[in-house]
Amino acid sequence: MNFQKKNSRNLCKFNCPENFQHLAVIMDGNGRWAKNKGWPRYFGHFRGVKALRQMVKSCSRLGIPYLTVFAFSTENWKRSSTEVSVIMKLMRRALTRYKEELNRDQIRLHVLGNLGELSPSVKNIFNEMREQTKNNQGLQLIVAVNYGGKREIIEAVKILSEKLTTGKIKTEDINEDSFSKYLSSSAFPPPDMIIRTGAVSRISNFYLWSAAYSEIYVSSLLWPDFNEEELIKALKFYSQTQRRFGGVFNKNTSERE
Ligand code: IPE
Ligand code: IPE
Ligand code: MG
Repeated sequence: MNFQKKNSRNLCKFNCPENFQHLAVIMDGNGRWAKNKGWPRYFGHFRGVKALRQMVKSCSRLGIPYLTVFAFSTENWKRSSTEVSVIMKLMRRALTRYKEELNRDQIRLHVLGNLGELSPSVKNIFNEMREQTKNNQGLQLIVAVNYGGKREIIEAVKILSEKLTTGKIKTEDINEDSFSKYLSSSAFPPPDMIIRTGAVSRISNFYLWSAAYSEIYVSSLLWPDFNEEELIKALKFYSQTQRRFGGVFNKNTSERE
């Protein structure tokens, strides 16, 4: 039995944890994966796209409603211009290549982050795919590109300040609920779990606000090696956690008190 078949069978037997809404992934380790093989970093990004396609298919089959993938952070511009342009080219190529597949699988593409700073060709393909998949009812795939949690909060503060200045809202009306509506990620539920690959346990400016109570799963696999088996492992880990949200868990009822 080949590896692929074995994993697909595992997935068929596996049920997505109850009430699980949103999985977010920090796809890290592409550079190290390539380096370990003596290859240039961009090879890792290239293979990372393959792992991403597999991940999207798995989440779609599992019936996970939302999947966010962190593709490029506001800090990733610090990398060499060659590496940045390879990443951009790969994003454009993947979107073009998997256009039909996304539609066939009823996947809707959303973008989180500022497209305005990307080259017109990359920006256009993201916008085109957003438009072309907007009626799809399956997996809601959120690509975080040129995204930073700090910037998202600052953008929300700017909108809010404008509204305060023009008297559209009052200071006393500001609370966690009303503030969060100005965040660009407010269209999606908060991530139930964040998987970070590459054995690194930091958040790196991802979902700073909405990850307040996300479970974190750190995978030792580098992103290009990530597979269904590891996804199931992460979801099983999630099933065993007790989400308390600051409350106390009642062992007898298995519910928060
Ligand atoms: C993640 O892999 C991909 C992006 C940040 C775009 P890295 O390129 O950060 O890989 P490592 O962490 O250097 O191995
Ligand atoms: C986080 O990975 C960003 C993405 C996966 C897009 P980084 O490689 O940029 O994070 P740091 O620099 O190790 O914190
Ligand atoms: Mg990294």
